[in-house]
Amino acid sequence: MDWGLQNRLSRIIKPQDNRALMLAVDHGYFLGPTEKLENPAKVIAPLLKYCDSLMVTRGVQRSSVSATTDTPMVLRVSGGSSIIGEDLSQEDITVSIEDAIRLNASALAMSIFVGSKYEYQTVVNLGKLVSRAQKYGIPVLAVTAVGKELGKDARYLSLACRVAAEQGANIVKTYYCENFEKVVQSCPVPIIVAGGKKIPERDALQLTYNSIKAGAVGVDIGRNVWQSEHPVAMIRAVRSIVHGNSNVEQAFSLYKKLASEDSKHKSKQT
Ligand code: 5RP
Repeated sequence: MDWGLQNRLSRIIKPQDNRALMLAVDHGYFLGPTEKLENPAKVIAPLLKYCDSLMVTRGVQRSSVSATTDTPMVLRVSGGSSIIGEDLSQEDITVSIEDAIRLNASALAMSIFVGSKYEYQTVVNLGKLVSRAQKYGIPVLAVTAVGKELGKDARYLSLACRVAAEQGANIVKTYYCENFEKVVQSCPVPIIVAGGKKIPERDALQLTYNSIKAGAVGVDIGRNVWQSEHPVAMIRAVRSIVHGNSNVEQAFSLYKKLASEDSKHKSKQT
């Protein structure tokens, strides 16, 4: 593997423990001003030092992330449909490789919609993106999108992850499901699990723990961090599982302790 690609990958999946904690803030690319992510700069700033990498669009990276950060950027380069549009699966590549390099992206991310009307377009685009990115030693993270009409079980997710890996994706982001070990075992590249919709903190920590136990290298978590009442406490608790080998009880205790300190701090300020 070439040096540049390996170096960029090692900024995302930490070689010390082969684990990754990615903070996802790219939701606005199809959801618009997502609840509690209305002001990305405010949300991102206190969390940046606790994640290994940030999954972001170029608009938010330029406008809302300090250029002095040393946190690696996983740049979302696909888009084209919004939540109120005709078909969410109709995505194309929206960012040139030159702009991604200008933004010093450590990896490029795009979604594929296996089983949807636009399956062909998104899978071919993934292959094209890998060819372009590979030329410059930039890894590609493929997101296996799920939707109302798309499955979320091990059979479907194994298929979608494998399709992404076969196109040359260096990392695949997918969803946790029952028998997740099967999804991991049949995917020849590292898997990162997306957090999904906001659920109670303890459940999100359980999801993180289960994902890693089943063989994922880490999580790419968004709403379950910044939609929490205590985002910093939550990302630190997630981190204690990903990099500290905490179990769910230990991580949840850490969350409660940090959350209570945060509440006291906030009440002093008011
Ligand atoms: C949106 C994405 C998100 O980055 C991904 O879903 C992770 O965020 P969350 O933990 O909120 O699900 O790819 O398409």
